[in-house]
Amino acid sequence: MKRLRRGEPVTVLGAGNMGSGIAQACAQAGFPVRVRDLSPQDLDRGRAAISSTLDGAIQRGKLTPEGKGEVLSRVQFTTSLDEALAGTRLVIEAVFEEEKVKRPLFESVVPKVPRDTLVVSNTSSLSIASLFDGLEGSERFAGLHFFYPAAVNRLVEIVSGPGTSPGALDALTDFCYALRKVPVRVKDSAGFCVNRFFVPYLNESVRLLEEGIADIPTIEAAANETFGTRLGPFELMNVTGVTIAFHSESSLARSFGPFYEPANLLRERHERKERWEISGTPGSMADREVVSQRLLGAVMGIAARLAEEGVASPEETDRAAVVGLRWVRGPFAWMNRLGLPAALARVEAIHARWGASFPVSSELQQRAGKGEPRWPLRFVRVEREGPLAWVLLDRPEVLNALNSEVLRQLDAQVRELSADPQVLVLLLAGSSRVFAAGADIAEMAGKSAFEGREFTFLGQRVTEAFEGSGKPSIAVVEGYALGGGFELALACDFILAAEKTQLALPEVTLGIHPGFGGSQRLLRLIGRARTKLLVESGLPISAEEAERWGAVARVYPRDELKEQARSLALTIASRAPLAVRMARSVIDQGADASLASALRLEGESASLTFSTEDQKEGMKAYLERRPPRFQGR
Ligand code: COA
Repeated sequence: MKRLRRGEPVTVLGAGNMGSGIAQACAQAGFPVRVRDLSPQDLDRGRAAISSTLDGAIQRGKLTPEGKGEVLSRVQFTTSLDEALAGTRLVIEAVFEEEKVKRPLFESVVPKVPRDTLVVSNTSSLSIASLFDGLEGSERFAGLHFFYPAAVNRLVEIVSGPGTSPGALDALTDFCYALRKVPVRVKDSAGFCVNRFFVPYLNESVRLLEEGIADIPTIEAAANETFGTRLGPFELMNVTGVTIAFHSESSLARSFGPFYEPANLLRERHERKERWEISGTPGSMADREVVSQRLLGAVMGIAARLAEEGVASPEETDRAAVVGLRWVRGPFAWMNRLGLPAALARVEAIHARWGASFPVSSELQQRAGKGEPRWPLRFVRVEREGPLAWVLLDRPEVLNALNSEVLRQLDAQVRELSADPQVLVLLLAGSSRVFAAGADIAEMAGKSAFEGREFTFLGQRVTEAFEGSGKPSIAVVEGYALGGGFELALACDFILAAEKTQLALPEVTLGIHPGFGGSQRLLRLIGRARTKLLVESGLPISAEEAERWGAVARVYPRDELKEQARSLALTIASRAPLAVRMARSVIDQGADASLASALRLEGESASLTFSTEDQKEGMKAYLERRPPRFQGR
């Protein structure tokens, strides 16, 4: 399935709250959008909603009036389905959340679009399998669950249906990144990932009230303290609708049983169409602790089950909570903070009451039973591709900001890959469309001088792991390579960058200066004056300028970057491995030596290559006019 390129048209069906927000997000990212609804009045409301959100952005200084004009010029409104679908690459349905409304729409849309057009539903609760059941071309059907407000909330759940192809999922993931969203991939299961634990979090809050364990102000305060939110569960229900909470919980109960049944008080409020009264003084710390334990128990227990059921990975569940709900940390990070045995105790307390409808994850039981303190969470992914190993920074929610955990995982992965004879080239990249926006400022902010030193040298250890790995390494950068991110890239053999990537060492804007070796490596690449310009000003340069200065080896169009990097890496991997390794070492060591020593070094090393089997094979193959078969010996 081909990925969407900016400039290719997208169709949004429905101009309501969600539809207009999605259309705005697409238009802001540079996609022409056709929005279709049934009446001109519906379309007018959608247009007005987009216009007023953009006005808000102008008031906050995030957009210029010209920028607003440009965004609006990309959105075309129509009541004609044919007009909306002509030439489209992606259809996003965002009509009323009922199968009997959505399904007939898909029945008329699917035959009208070519087989390589992606067709997705922005449903928050309906099964993708049944929405598209029996329609032609299941490989391109999926769910794309945007969160309210869709133009602003960065989370999108990508829901795979029974036949969705990996290519379609990749194209949708890429599309979400182009929209500057943070996608998480989830299975087609009731509530998908977020609503499965978030709606019960609301419901448990109501149960705590109903059972007389705490009053609303206490529950609000406890939830806000625990999850780092501004609105507690009751205030949130007042804003988003008690009725929505009731229906969502009822729908979960139909799939998963009594634990998910709406609390009586929730049903009552919904029936009476009443909001919650939240004013009052919160109870004591001890009272709040009881609430916190119960809410965490529910959330952690469900999250662990989501992993066990294959609905969402632990990392994606945490990412969804942090990005979509703005929680200070996700359920798995909470388990790790408490320690798994303590987390299990809280989960079991809830299981004791609800039994089979609140099962305990066997993985949580096993890990806690073995006394493991933490659930391992992966922020660096390795993807092997023949002789290549892609090392992917994987914290898209913070633009791959490098915290200590990421640096430790990078260090371990690079050292392991360096020792693997099957790996011939390392490629360092971001898992999303951003490389890395620097060291993690949130983590660094609280560091003492001693901790700052530990962190700095941990960063240097990682850069040394790349340099000393004995394998060629390529940094594949796009979006941003800032601060520690740029420094990490500079430790690779060379940088390949996408057009318009911003590179900078902005540390002085934060009261520090580069510490992962960036100023010294850059000095050796681009000279003293330009290094000082970058380090002292903290200003960014574009990939194009960095290429002219010699900091970046090559620049490619964004959509071609990874493919070009792969092809170049495969070329390097096809060369004599020992010769590549020795040449690499000569270049690195020679850079810091006098010319006389460097020439000597090169001569001695080149002489040594004649003692390798690869030299015999390479030259023999040339003379026999066949490709060489190097063994790295
Ligand atoms: N450390 C920690 N978090 C970071 C980060 C960093 N270096 N860079 C980005 N993030 C986080 C942001 O705080 C934000 O999180 P939030 O949604 O919880 O607020 C998220 O990543 C997305 O970033 P945002 O600023 O909303 O994206 P943007 O596209 O508007 O701006 C940047 C992108 C890179 C210009 C901006 O994030 C930035 O200036 N980051 C800091 C760069 C820096 O100084 N790096 C050097 C550190 S040594």
